Amino acid sequence: MFLALAFALATRIFADDFRPVYHFVPEANWMNEPNGLIKIKSTWHLFYQHNPTANVWGNLNWGHATSSDLVHWTHEPLAITSENGVEAFTGTSYYDADNTSGLGSSTSPPYLAYYTGYFPSNGTQDQRLAFSVDDGVTWTKYHDNPIISAAEESPSDLTGGLETRDPKVFFHETSGKWVMVLAHGGQDKLLFWTSSNAKSWTWKSDLSAGQIEGLPSGITGWEVPDMFELPIQDTNSTTWVLIMTPATGSPAGGNGVVALTGSFDGSTFKPDPVDPSTLWLDYGRDFDGAMSWENVPAVDGRRILASVMNSYGASPPTNTWKGMLSFPRTINLKEIASKRYFLQQPVNEINLVGSSLAIIQNQAIISGQTLLSSIRGTALDIKLAFTIEAGAKLSLAVRKAASEQTIIQYEQTTSSISVDRTTSGNISYDPAAGGVHSATLKPDGSGVIQLRVLVDTCSVEVFGGEGEFVISDLIFPSEASDEVYLEANGGSANLHSVEVRGISLN
Ligand code: FRU
Repeated sequence: MFLALAFALATRIFADDFRPVYHFVPEANWMNEPNGLIKIKSTWHLFYQHNPTANVWGNLNWGHATSSDLVHWTHEPLAITSENGVEAFTGTSYYDADNTSGLGSSTSPPYLAYYTGYFPSNGTQDQRLAFSVDDGVTWTKYHDNPIISAAEESPSDLTGGLETRDPKVFFHETSGKWVMVLAHGGQDKLLFWTSSNAKSWTWKSDLSAGQIEGLPSGITGWEVPDMFELPIQDTNSTTWVLIMTPATGSPAGGNGVVALTGSFDGSTFKPDPVDPSTLWLDYGRDFDGAMSWENVPAVDGRRILASVMNSYGASPPTNTWKGMLSFPRTINLKEIASKRYFLQQPVNEINLVGSSLAIIQNQAIISGQTLLSSIRGTALDIKLAFTIEAGAKLSLAVRKAASEQTIIQYEQTTSSISVDRTTSGNISYDPAAGGVHSATLKPDGSGVIQLRVLVDTCSVEVFGGEGEFVISDLIFPSEASDEVYLEANGGSANLHSVEVRGISLN
């Protein structure tokens, strides 16, 4: 009787296996980071590291999903398969507009996907090519793979081809060459190769920690590079941006994503000195292996990033899937007093789904007062803009019930935003699943603090200010924890505007 009741309760609470409402997860089984993100015509393509046969890392293929708006996703058949003892590790896609590879035709140029071939039998890694001549629906492996063999890699690889991976490939207009950035996790370096035909490649240069002035020590295990040009907001200049995921050294521990700026002549990246306070793209535990969509039309002009949210391997308490895509976010660059800030915000497409649950305008909230406590929701988009009195704290609790809540707090004394997961629900699945993650956030020139908080079935993503600091974390509350509150303590806050939207997809 008791067991039956416990089982019924467990199935009720976890009936949906924490499947998010508006974040992408595999239909079944494992994913790690996104791969080959590319927009083709009006379709956003998402490829991702996917084990289609088990809910753990291994047997890696490129899973595939498509979307017309970055919010609704359709699962597609595998794009690049694990075959003949060679798995398909991480990589990127690019449009070969001039058919320099000869793999399409001048009237129907191909899309190219570069990936690492991984041999589980002996750990070898080499670089491979696949192409699509039907707008990304199906992908054919190039007949002469690998395009860079382990033997070719070995002069710049002390492990002899065991650890060079994750090709980021793009066409560099100024030099008229294709560029490949490879990660060497074990040696903490990135390798730059170039090609004229997108198929045969020549090593050009390495980038390692010693060449990056100001890079804090302890940032090791470099993986998943991405590289693109970004305009510097309010100027006529652009700069090169190089992002990657080191396995250690991040603010919240575990994998994190760093972004460097610098110059690039087609074969050597010269990084600008690093400011450690603007180096990390996320201060939470769960933003890992970030990559950006290529081929976004100039009229759109956005550079949009997504990563995997899961830094605990197979530990999270989901049974039918593992690994979730972060909500796609734009990345911009702003210079204030010669300091560069990356600004990230959720893509606007989220405004097209859901409905308003509450709006507050120009209202003071005094110490001890609680607002929004009648709101219910497990998938929310919350915007706050406020000023705050000296010594005060403003706390937003989400996914709350009697004994559970995740608290997003702004503390005036320390100018910090934090996400407190200590009572967020199940935190026993991993030693790193609880705790508090924080980042410094100064009010803007008018003293206003802005927060944007995305809440879903098992996640919170908090964007502070214009998006200069972001905290992304997984949470595993029970489905019934759907309350919200907003509370001031130690002083009052003046709420310029608060909007809570409930997100549902149709
Ligand atoms: C990063 C990573 C990549 C590799 C992939 C394999 O999480 O280790 O370097 O290509 O995962 O799944």
